[in-house]
Amino acid sequence: MNSPYSLAGKAIVITGAGRGIGAVVAQTAAGLGAFVVVNDLDADVANETVARIERIGGSAIAHCGDISDPDYCGTLIEACMAERGQIDALVNNAGLFRMGPAWDLKSADLQAMLSVNVLGTANCAMHAIPRMRAARGGSIINVTSGAASGIAEMSAYGATKGAVSSMTYGWALDLAGSGVRVNAVSPNATTRMVAAMQEFKGTEGEPRPFQDPQHTAETVCFLASDRSAHVNGQIIRIASGQLSLVAQPKPILPGVSVADWSIDTVAQAVQELIAGQ
Ligand SMILES: NC(=O)c1ccc[n+]([C@@H]2O[C@H](COP(=O)([O-])OP(=O)(O)OC[C@H]3O[C@@H](n4cnc5c(N)ncnc54)[C@H](O)[C@@H]3O)[C@@H](O)[C@H]2O)c1
Repeated sequence: MNSPYSLAGKAIVITGAGRGIGAVVAQTAAGLGAFVVVNDLDADVANETVARIERIGGSAIAHCGDISDPDYCGTLIEACMAERGQIDALVNNAGLFRMGPAWDLKSADLQAMLSVNVLGTANCAMHAIPRMRAARGGSIINVTSGAASGIAEMSAYGATKGAVSSMTYGWALDLAGSGVRVNAVSPNATTRMVAAMQEFKGTEGEPRPFQDPQHTAETVCFLASDRSAHVNGQIIRIASGQLSLVAQPKPILPGVSVADWSIDTVAQAVQELIAGQ
């Protein structure tokens, strides 16, 4: 494979790769020469992704299980090690999506999203990172969401994706200098997740401003490739036909210097800052 973005010789674990964005990432990575471990909760769709990869001459295995189970994630990462003796990239793609306004949050939905989106992402990383550190190389690609910045009726989902963004920043700092890089993508792609959102909002018939999942797949494969060796701690947004970097949340400086802290001087400082926005 002559592409400068070749993934030949690399072994990649992709969670939730049976359908949606993960399936397209798996096919694209395999097309670039990677060996892919296709995880999904659903064995049928994982096997379909593997069959599609094999039809294009690629190499993949299915590994089915629930990433919210930390022990399962250990077996997932070790399956990659057993097959190829290495893990070069981990794509933490599997995710759950539930909608609802603040007054209708359901504890079971929040628990389910925390278990998969936050704990599942961490479970896979905590098994992959020691292997990558030992090899002095690797790329972790998390999948966050624009909802992390706050979208109406997506507060719980957004909170779990905010946690994914925070882990991305923190892990990149922890691993700086180790050869292991951590980045994230923030996609916008037509999948069944979007269909669920449009069904909730009652907008099934309206035009869909969502993008081809291939756009996200190209970005993820770039982050898995050696051509992105200089990219660490970034969140890359793919939406509205544009690719952009997501700014890290931080205080807007300068603030207002407050000499005598009282409820009144706080009120004045907040008023001044909001008026200046
Ligand atoms: N589609 C979008 O526009 C969009 C926007 C922002 C973020 N995302 C994120 O992108 C990722 C992929 O989303 P998608 O739209 O392709 O969704 P999807 O529902 O089409 O696919 C998700 C896949 O993950 C699998 N999965 C779910 N829970 C799992 C678990 N516990 N263990 C293993 N596999 C599991 C599902 O079986 C499914 O095949 C998710 O993390 C999602 O939150 C998507």
